[in-house]
Amino acid sequence: MQIFSTPAEMQAWSDNCRTAGRRIGLVPTMGALHTGHLALIADAAERSDDVVVSIFVNPLQFNEVSDFDGYPRPIDDDVAACEQTGVAAVFAPTAASMYPMGFQTRVVPGPLGAVMEGPTRPGHLEGVLTVVVKLFGAVRPHVAIFGEKDYQQLRIITQMAADLEFGIDVVGHPVVRDLDGLALSSRNVHLTDSERAAAVAVPRSLDAAIVAARVSDDLTDLISAATSVIDAEDAAVLEYVTVFDSITLIEFNDLAGVQRVPGVARIATAVRFGDVRLIDNRDLFESSET
Ligand code: PAF
Repeated sequence: MQIFSTPAEMQAWSDNCRTAGRRIGLVPTMGALHTGHLALIADAAERSDDVVVSIFVNPLQFNEVSDFDGYPRPIDDDVAACEQTGVAAVFAPTAASMYPMGFQTRVVPGPLGAVMEGPTRPGHLEGVLTVVVKLFGAVRPHVAIFGEKDYQQLRIITQMAADLEFGIDVVGHPVVRDLDGLALSSRNVHLTDSERAAAVAVPRSLDAAIVAARVSDDLTDLISAATSVIDAEDAAVLEYVTVFDSITLIEFNDLAGVQRVPGVARIATAVRFGDVRLIDNRDLFESSET
């Protein structure tokens, strides 16, 4: 397995792969790899000849210095996990090589960035798009896999790749969950034992709304079903819960007239447990998930 620490080294390797007619699959990560990332790597391996995993804690997408500083960085474990799963190359660039002196460009999302994480985390989505363009430029993949846990992120990246003609297939991989339903996230390690126990309220709140949606078109019924699960946990502070069109991300006012089939509507939430902010989402009408 190769390890590259600058975009130039990465590009040279990728160009050789492309010249040899090999298909490159990219799994962009910020490291602290868990079972969810391994599922993305397995997915990439099925869609490409050579899998590249990027590991870069991107300073542009953090709102709080403490969150950036405290983000887990077990790089040796991450490299070992990549080696064990047959990854061809790890791209672990330094911040200086990604953002050298004088770097100034930013990639701004359109209306898809105006909801959910947009207003609650100013600059976050812009930071994500900017680094993803840099990663695409360095790795030059044919296909890139992103987790659906960050659903809005997946949508803005898919839209950007189409709008800007990148010629890269952007693929979403279903949320990978712990046995109790909590979505896997690198941030879960920061939960105390009692917060971890309480965090199961996040997927359960989505379950409750999905159940409510089976019998009601009224969004207040769904939102109050979700909210009451979160409110029952003292440690949990709800930031938002919203039901929206899966493609446009525009919030629904009610469900009357909305087609009750998978892929049409989603519900997403963001909940804080102390310093840890968790997000999750589900397809509102995906009956096999309930
Ligand atoms: O989802 C993540 O881990 C990050 O937002 C990403 C896509 C690797 C960009 O830094």
